[in-house]
Amino acid sequence: MSQHATETPSPASISALTTRALEELTALPDAESAEQWRVNYLGRRGHITGLLRSIPQLEPERRREVGTQANLAKNTLEEALARRVRELAEAELAARDALDVTLPGRPVIAGRLHPTTQIVREICDAFIAMGFSVIEGPEVELDHYNFEMLNIPAGHPARDMWNSLWVDYANEEGQQPMLLRTHTSPMQARVMEAQEPPVRVVVPGKCYRYEATDATHEWHFYQIEGLAVAEGITFANLKGTLYEFARRVFGPDRQIRFRCDYFPFVEPGVDMSISNFVDPSTGKRPINRDEDWIEIMGAGMVHPRVLEGVGYDPQRCTGFAFGMGPERIGMLKYGIDDIRHFYRNDVRFLRQF
Ligand code: DAH
Repeated sequence: MSQHATETPSPASISALTTRALEELTALPDAESAEQWRVNYLGRRGHITGLLRSIPQLEPERRREVGTQANLAKNTLEEALARRVRELAEAELAARDALDVTLPGRPVIAGRLHPTTQIVREICDAFIAMGFSVIEGPEVELDHYNFEMLNIPAGHPARDMWNSLWVDYANEEGQQPMLLRTHTSPMQARVMEAQEPPVRVVVPGKCYRYEATDATHEWHFYQIEGLAVAEGITFANLKGTLYEFARRVFGPDRQIRFRCDYFPFVEPGVDMSISNFVDPSTGKRPINRDEDWIEIMGAGMVHPRVLEGVGYDPQRCTGFAFGMGPERIGMLKYGIDDIRHFYRNDVRFLRQF
């Protein structure tokens, strides 16, 4: 496709050719037509190439002038082409971005609540619905509240029930034994010291034990404490409240069992278990063996010494208390087989809740 001018090239004709080429270039609609344009002007048989090839045939005195101008024109067109190609590519990209409504949306990665937070909130909500309020307390606790006020004086053998992580602490009053709280029960005394009866609170929070871990034991875990103290509270209130809690959190088809247990701050003390076996053939929850029960909390009637310690009159007020491990309740509810999953921070586990 040799299209070079048949007339002898002159500065005027080169300048006209350049102007025409640049006008065409500006009007090009897309990258494909730009390639066409390149072949037409700068290709092996293009106008500019032809122009350069015709120079040797010119009279010698005109070669220099025409040659310089032809080379200039070539550079100008090459640069203009590169610019235009870039422009066209950008425009194409922008048009696609702005207009292609069929592209799939970009996924938004949403965070979510930790499974412990979810189960803690669900349990607290069950008690809120029964008139309890929620309060939190310190994780680094005085020996005084963690043990003494709960009827567990220094040297009491029941201290062995809680393997403690002790903390060195001294203030203006001197050295006071402190520890990472081993349970949320110290908040019982703190709440009662701060207010007159009636009291109805639940206390969620973290606890720590100096213990080896296994599938059912962590050295740090949550507890939810409960306390209700007023005139005329009986063991029937304890049972009714905890039955209702289990019904709300586990649904109506589980059974509940109370057995005698010992905790120094309650009398009588119990533990509460929930039926956990599902017969695969019937889908029902029969109870035939001891293993069909799973223990989920300790509870009892608040010990008169605990009430006296905070200045309540045990002749006038009675109350019940309970304490449970929400991770274990989450494990039962969702079929999680190892408590250590909760704090391994593996998103593949966390994402399932
Ligand atoms: N604090 C006990 C523990 O960590 C659990 C507990 C038992 C709490 C009986 C209570 C209670 O309030 O009445 O093992």
